[in-house]
Amino acid sequence: MDFIYLLGRFHVVVLHIPLGVVVALFILELLSRREKYRHLASASTYLWVVGAVSATVTVALGYMHFAEGSFDSASGIQHRTFGTVLAVALVIAAALRVSAYGQRYASWFLPASILMVVLATITGHYGGNLTHGSTYLVEYSPQFVRSMAGLGPRRPPVESLESADPFLDLVGPMFSQRCSRCHSDDTREADLNLMSHAGVMRGGESGPVVSRARPQASELLSRITLPPDDEAFMPAEGNTPLTEAQVRIIEWWLMAGAPADTTIGELESQPDATTATLIRAELGLSGS
Ligand code: HEC
Repeated sequence: MDFIYLLGRFHVVVLHIPLGVVVALFILELLSRREKYRHLASASTYLWVVGAVSATVTVALGYMHFAEGSFDSASGIQHRTFGTVLAVALVIAAALRVSAYGQRYASWFLPASILMVVLATITGHYGGNLTHGSTYLVEYSPQFVRSMAGLGPRRPPVESLESADPFLDLVGPMFSQRCSRCHSDDTREADLNLMSHAGVMRGGESGPVVSRARPQASELLSRITLPPDDEAFMPAEGNTPLTEAQVRIIEWWLMAGAPADTTIGELESQPDATTATLIRAELGLSGS
């Protein structure tokens, strides 16, 4: 199985070939309509074949990548469906193009190439959701666009340590920055979604990752405090780790009972002076 996974990962590299070919096909089909560029029509026949072959290889690798099992979110399924449809459509179009119909219905291949560009764009969009999360594009857009994507209002700037929400302002953003690639709504490795407090508390496939009774023994904490070369260290696969200060803050948050929907000022267990300094720096509050 490892070999399949190894091959599958090349999906994210190889997919750029059919993408480029599809765009080139559209340009060639458009140009070859003009008298001056009529001779390009024969080149476009080859390009249809290259598109069909490269898309088929990409889709085959895609299914191998999918077998890793962490992409079966709505975006993952849509991405797979549209990618498969695109490859099948390219194969059919290429077969027609090289056949006798290729000449007779030459004018159909411009609209066909436009259809391929549209399919490739939709496929790419859902694929992008898998790598960046479905809210990546609209993160910095006006609120009405954010609302359409199911995002709440942006957090207002934090004015003081006391008024900061311990999850939404402090710990949540660390998870968004360092863990969202693999633990979001779209990509849920180990069935763990760290993008909301509810998701963190729900835990992953091996059960809860936060223990309120024994915070020091929380799976979440142990994963980020292992030696970085340990296989179970998080973030996995050499992704940029949390800073030492961030780990200390998460540890404090766990000891405080993993609170959310409150402010740090209202917590029973207040951070000690050292931790408070780290928290202020993390929140971007200067001095005091
Ligand atoms: C590159 C992808 C990737 C990134 C980034 C990543 N993880 Fe993971 N995580 C995984 C995979 C894969 C697993 C399942 C394999 C394992 O348990 O080691 C996992 C499992 C876990 C588990 C165990 C869940 C369970 O129920 O078994 C925790 C806890 C965890 N990750 C926390 C984090 C935290 C915290 C971050 C960010 C600092 C993070 N991960 C970033 C890929 C990633």
